[in-house]
Amino acid sequence: MIDAKFNEMVRKHLNVGHEILYLTREEVKNLNVPTEVLFEQVKKALAMYSTGETLMPAKTNVFPDSSAVYISMPGLIPGMSAAGVKWVGAFNNNMKDYNLPSLCAMIMVNDYLTGWPICVMDGIHIMETRTPAIAMVAAQNLARKDSEVFGMIGLGREGGNHLPIAHLGIPNLKKILVWDVNEAAMDRAIANFQDKVPVPIEKAPSLEYIVRNSDVLASCTFFTNNPPKPPIQDEWVPKGQTIIVTDLHTQFDPAIINRADMYIVDSRAQQEHLVEDGYFYGPIPEPTCELGEILAGKMPARTSDDQIIVVNPSGMVVDDLAVTPVVIEMALEKGVGTKLPL
Ligand SMILES: NC(=O)c1ccc[n+]([C@@H]2O[C@H](COP(=O)([O-])OP(=O)(O)OC[C@H]3O[C@@H](n4cnc5c(N)ncnc54)[C@H](O)[C@@H]3O)[C@@H](O)[C@H]2O)c1
Repeated sequence: MIDAKFNEMVRKHLNVGHEILYLTREEVKNLNVPTEVLFEQVKKALAMYSTGETLMPAKTNVFPDSSAVYISMPGLIPGMSAAGVKWVGAFNNNMKDYNLPSLCAMIMVNDYLTGWPICVMDGIHIMETRTPAIAMVAAQNLARKDSEVFGMIGLGREGGNHLPIAHLGIPNLKKILVWDVNEAAMDRAIANFQDKVPVPIEKAPSLEYIVRNSDVLASCTFFTNNPPKPPIQDEWVPKGQTIIVTDLHTQFDPAIINRADMYIVDSRAQQEHLVEDGYFYGPIPEPTCELGEILAGKMPARTSDDQIIVVNPSGMVVDDLAVTPVVIEMALEKGVGTKLPL
């Protein structure tokens, strides 16, 4: 099954094979894809991946050095008529050396019927909103039902964007704690998001405090294929905690990952490549299952309030591609973006 309506809509607005739509970061952002739509698209993509309804080879990483990586991410979601590739640069020293964010991304979307490109868009906004959405889909399905405190470690672009959607994954949310090695990043996140969040956001006094006092703990700091010794100690992690990392758990002692009752990834195939490429500090276990298998009802979720559950979604292009048809439809119908000849 393909999404024939989407293909028709594209043809109504675009001369496929002769022109493309170009969307800047601001244009993608200002379309304001509703958070609930984003959440549902990402949830569908995760489940579709794990039930074999997408086509997606593992990411290809090309390393200029151990602080940087170029990542090529092609994929296909036939049911959404979504086909494309995301091309990422992740350079950990950018801010220090060039006053630029560490991550950049462009997405090229191709027509599902002919293969011709239909849209080139900045991928940063989709990436920095779909990544927290994945974390909250995981929280919604794996956290203890009585979870009230959300802890966020790393308040950069991805980390900050976890704050306004935390309530979607944690319905009884009462408080958000934040921790970052950079005080200014915490201040910025609180200033940007406090008025969009219905609960207080507080700076944690230490890394140990945020780990010991969060029901759901997320981490979004950095990763490298030469990881340093992680600072978070095994004995800090309380029973029943749900840990969701989008930075390949660089902050967590491998003992935590090894004693977790469930260690869940988004893609087993991708996880194997990450292990081979040396992204993890110390030995880690085989994944219990994929997040999408839980979402599709093929694997059980949490079975007791004592379980420690670690979720490591390394990020898949199908997460981004699931959002691109929504963005493209909104842009074409509203006349947003620039049409460029091929
Ligand atoms: N899994 C995914 O799908 C996915 C998607 C996008 C980004 N990421 C990863 O998420 C991470 C963050 O990306 P970003 O765009 O938000 O980067 P960013 O540079 O905007 O923010 C990173 C933040 O982490 C903080 N930080 C660094 N080291 C820390 C430490 N040891 N303890 C606490 N805070 C620390 C920095 O001060 C900064 O505020 C990167 O590793 C990126 O590759 C993952």
